[in-house]
Amino acid sequence: LTSDQPYRTGYHFQPPSHWMNGICYPNAPMIYKGIYHFFYQYNPLGAVWGNIVWAHSTSTDLVNWTPHKYAISPSQPADINGCWSGSATILPNGKPVILYTGIDPENNQVQNMAVPKDLSDPFLEEWTKLPQNPLMESTSYNCIDASSFRDPTTAWQGTDGRWRVIIGSKVNRNGIAILYRSKDFVHWTKAEQPLHSGKKTGMWECPDFFPVSTTSATGVDTSSIGKNLKYVLKVSLDETKHDYYTIGSYNYEKDTYVPDKGSVDSDSGLRYDYGKFYASKTFFDSAKNRRILWGWINESSSVEHDIEKGWSGVQAIPRNVWLDKSRKQLVQWPVAEIEKLRSNPGHLSSRGLKEGSKVEVGGLTASQADVEISFKISDFEEAEVFEESWRDPQLLCSEKDASVKGGLGPFGLMVLASEGLEEYTAVFFRIFKRRTKYVVLMCSDQSRSSLDEDNDKTTYGAFLNVDPVDEELSLRTLIDHSIVESFGGGGKACITARVYPTLATEDEARLFVFNKGTGSVGVTTVSAWSMKSAKIN
Ligand code: FRU
Repeated sequence: LTSDQPYRTGYHFQPPSHWMNGICYPNAPMIYKGIYHFFYQYNPLGAVWGNIVWAHSTSTDLVNWTPHKYAISPSQPADINGCWSGSATILPNGKPVILYTGIDPENNQVQNMAVPKDLSDPFLEEWTKLPQNPLMESTSYNCIDASSFRDPTTAWQGTDGRWRVIIGSKVNRNGIAILYRSKDFVHWTKAEQPLHSGKKTGMWECPDFFPVSTTSATGVDTSSIGKNLKYVLKVSLDETKHDYYTIGSYNYEKDTYVPDKGSVDSDSGLRYDYGKFYASKTFFDSAKNRRILWGWINESSSVEHDIEKGWSGVQAIPRNVWLDKSRKQLVQWPVAEIEKLRSNPGHLSSRGLKEGSKVEVGGLTASQADVEISFKISDFEEAEVFEESWRDPQLLCSEKDASVKGGLGPFGLMVLASEGLEEYTAVFFRIFKRRTKYVVLMCSDQSRSSLDEDNDKTTYGAFLNVDPVDEELSLRTLIDHSIVESFGGGGKACITARVYPTLATEDEARLFVFNKGTGSVGVTTVSAWSMKSAKIN
């Protein structure tokens, strides 16, 4: 890290050279012969979107990454104007294949396939495109709009042995997941019915469709079929730039997906992350039987600033995802491998947090850290009453930001804080009373994160499905120079933010635990570590 690049990350994935960096979305993550592969949408010519190729890195631990040459770049008529998002499928014989969207000479979006040239190379450096490309295209016959037809998913095999894949699309403003089937992976036929659709959501980008186990946190292969499974459909909404998912059932006969009752559909459903997290994608890690989620975190700075610093876009720490016991939502947690970067544990001098307290967690590098803290509330007397009109947690968090005194809360962490608190990002909770129960609000308040007014400093928020009477309230925050990635309630709500402090950089950054509510809060555990830098590209 150099001081003219205070926002480069230490352990979050970034492309190699900061003057060549473009925008990246996770593509086709997979594991092959024990090596993790990560591909991303990359602009070799600058820090803005354009000239898209597939950049490629590999890893043995999901922490340290080695760059390789571009896996896929424009060469055929079927992709001459860009190689856009796609996914990998590992065939039953162990062979990986990639389906991706190409932009053809007429700027139509079409679906193409690429296969490894040399299967004995675990790094899969060379990819060969099929001469038959494109394999799927829009025609007047199938009525697909060629400008809204992209991002094929990992394919799965149905009970009849045929392969299925969905492609993101829209009809007017209704998002749809177009279904294609194939016997040989090369000849694809569009199904009459889409797998699913949503009203007035806008375009569904980067769909993801996968089973989750109802009986364990173990991941399952995308082609798994069986009883103890629920299905997740995630779509990236072009209009709001958020990733939404629902949990539901997949009817193997009719090839349709039906979200569970009470699972709000994709325009206002659940989010993987209530901050910045887009165009995400999962893969099944067959080596460790887990499903891993990758998500792209874009900048909150201006395009001019991106061009000046020469890069744009980072990846969230890969997250293990599984179905919550309630079966109503997913739970996400950073992959355990990241913990090997932990060093120099920090310490907290006091455990009781009375009204107005602010205690420093000292002894660590607070600009590059991993913090886990748990709070226990024994007295709920001070909890304010929840108003039923408070439907939007983000709005509530911005109205009641970290500076607004409350009853139970705000309490939590102040990260990337300057010594005099001219700058800080606050990740905190508030607890409200609602009839005989309590509502937990989790916020990430960026409004004082930087003295630089050019940045987007929107505050984010989520309701956290934890009962603070029975359970402790836990918070884990990964701090990495310009990233604040937080997991509330053991991963039931996640909020990721980008911040650009001008004072609280590198060794000047501090970390505090605070309570600005009138009610007292106890800290039951706090573990904080400096994070070593990973070897990334
Ligand atoms: C997501 C997206 C995808 C497309 C890719 C192009 O933001 O628009 O739909 O394939 O980016 O880079």
